[in-house]
Amino acid sequence: PKERNWDGTFLYLYQNFWCPSIAMKAVVSFQQHFEARDTDIILASTPKSGTTWLKALAFTIVNRTSYPLKDSPLLTTAPHELVPFTEFDLYFKSQCPNLEDYPTPRIFATHTPYASLPCSIKDSECRIVYVCRNPFDQLISHWHFTLKLRRENVEPLPLEEGFEMYCKGIHSFGPFWDHVLGFWKASLERPDKVLFLKYEDMKENIVSHAKRLAEFIGFPFSSEEEKQGVIEEISRLCSFESLKDLEVNKNGSRPSGAPNNAFFRKAEVGDWGNHLTPSMAKRMEKLIEEKLGGSGLSFKVSS
Ligand code: A3P
Repeated sequence: PKERNWDGTFLYLYQNFWCPSIAMKAVVSFQQHFEARDTDIILASTPKSGTTWLKALAFTIVNRTSYPLKDSPLLTTAPHELVPFTEFDLYFKSQCPNLEDYPTPRIFATHTPYASLPCSIKDSECRIVYVCRNPFDQLISHWHFTLKLRRENVEPLPLEEGFEMYCKGIHSFGPFWDHVLGFWKASLERPDKVLFLKYEDMKENIVSHAKRLAEFIGFPFSSEEEKQGVIEEISRLCSFESLKDLEVNKNGSRPSGAPNNAFFRKAEVGDWGNHLTPSMAKRMEKLIEEKLGGSGLSFKVSS
């Protein structure tokens, strides 16, 4: 099965998820060829859930002793270049990329659902950090993003239509529910392997989450660093406010064609309230209950 994607390209139903046509080959190559190492750190998410933020944080935490923060590569290089996507960078550029020379620990990002991850990721000791976002805001963020990706000859997708498609699970790497549940269940079964983070919790207290992340990926902050305020400094450096105004993030584009600035919009919890009608919101609430009820997973939807 094939559907029209929100930006006018196509989505293919592959292993029960909707894969953007542009990423299809890369997802398959990733599954077939990726050899995880025990030291790898895999950042996973559905699009528009805080991936860019998580990349910035993980990269900075891991490399904090290699550069003083004022000279951080994050100031001159886009987070997506520092931490490449398996589908939009590595296996997008080559069917069999050479990943041997990446410094240890290698940090890669992926939107591939848990069930479809390469076996070597699940079987090795590598860590997975998943970030999810409440579906109301993720939907709105995704809709804005696809408007920016759209080619000029493609009509913008009305939000009402995007909403309908979202409810049917037809969006990049959707259905949303299956994606989050896959990683949620894995995090309950294997808490030492999968760390499950929520965008809204990170917005509420980034310092405690940066600390948790650092511990989980094996780079805990020392008490000396804590005293010196290093966690606060890293959190500030990786904040939306600091990243969105950097020249490198305002200009240029990704190999997939997405402009770098499309990854920085508003970064708010509850922006959906400016877009969804009360009846759409009710339907979304019902869907959340239907799809996630009983899983123990819940979302904060306003700030
Ligand atoms: P909005 O469209 O709601 O503004 P992703 O990185 O997974 O593509 O998600 C993009 C969303 O995260 C966008 O949300 C973007 O503004 C927000 N974002 C980007 N960088 C961020 C940061 N450093 N802190 C918090 N949110 C960020």
